[in-house]
Amino acid sequence: TAPLKVGVAGLGTVGASVVRILGANAEEIAARAGRPIVVAAVSARDKGRNRGLDLSGASWHMDPSQLARSNDVDVVVELIGGAEGAARACVETAIEARRPVVTANKALLAKHGVAIARAAEAAGVTVGFEAAVAGGVPIVKTLREGLAGNRISRVFGILNGTCNYILTRMEKDKLGFAECLAEAQRLGYAEADPTFDIGGFDAAHKLALLASLAFGTEVDANGIYVEGIASITPFDLAMAEELGFRLKLLGIATRTDQGVEQRVHPSMLPKDSAIARVDGVTNAIEIDGDAVGALVLAGPGAGGDATASAVIADIIDIARGIHMPVFGAPASKLTAPVRAPMG
Ligand code: NDP
Ligand code: HSE
Repeated sequence: TAPLKVGVAGLGTVGASVVRILGANAEEIAARAGRPIVVAAVSARDKGRNRGLDLSGASWHMDPSQLARSNDVDVVVELIGGAEGAARACVETAIEARRPVVTANKALLAKHGVAIARAAEAAGVTVGFEAAVAGGVPIVKTLREGLAGNRISRVFGILNGTCNYILTRMEKDKLGFAECLAEAQRLGYAEADPTFDIGGFDAAHKLALLASLAFGTEVDANGIYVEGIASITPFDLAMAEELGFRLKLLGIATRTDQGVEQRVHPSMLPKDSAIARVDGVTNAIEIDGDAVGALVLAGPGAGGDATASAVIADIIDIARGIHMPVFGAPASKLTAPVRAPMG
């Protein structure tokens, strides 16, 4: 069978892992996909950098949009990041060229997801974004497929690995905030601009995508009350502990009589609850469905290989010929933006 030719735009933490794992697990992946998957084209800013990857079979494109237009490529994998610029142009160009897209870019989808989804549906192509929410945790597939028969009342949890890593190390290892953030950056967990992590905006982007899948709301990160972790002190963590709680940055989307309410803020959780126990870069999400009850998924929420696992799952779906509407679900409306944390 003819191989599926993948173009990888962005060879940083996630992109390099995708290329490496597609090579290392080629046999298993081909068996599951029904055809080999090969990296046919790549793009990054610095062509001279040694990334420890075998790129001998791939054409090099300085411009990611040129990669997206290239006839060498069946699927465009966008791993550049950012809501505008090269990443947005790459995704839009791929859709115009009627090529399916896989992306881990929650900032792009939270801002332009509605337009991207409409363009993709008009062009008849898939936009896979499993990796955009909770890294390696297959939460998009779970909501879209595994729980498709449920009326969901609430989705909430830890959606940012960097913040959970910082809070855990501050609490357990008594390290300072700046030191923990620097370590999360060194490990490849943080966004290029870590304000997105610690300010709660990255969690808000992911929550908007989750709410859309769970409730059919239009993706809208602007309607989310957002408070990050920058003002959390060791004293706050110690006080929570003394009272029998742990402090976690949560994203929460709840169905209410007025519509779906979305918020991101630090929250006190009873120490022995499933989400409170989650440490380090791990993300954990609880989904409350009328049929299934409460279901919790937990796993690595950031990092190159874990995120690549989700990217590759989307590529395999495309190789299998599976086509999903980008967000598609019954329409619900959002509440007016919540102005202060509640509950
Ligand atoms: P990195 O900063 O490590 O990598 C970005 C890559 O994009 C680099 O290879 C860079 O090139 C390339 N790039 C940047 N600008 C351009 C441009 N104008 N033209 C061509 N190439 C360009 O980012 P990550 O791998 O960490 O993140 C990628 C995406 O995945 C982001 O959307 C991020 O939010 C998302 N994500 C990241 C996770 C993580 O754990 N890191 C987890 C889940 C999602 P060069 O190497 O030459 O500088
Ligand atoms: N910066 C993000 C995080 C990457 O720490 O969760 C995964 O989306």
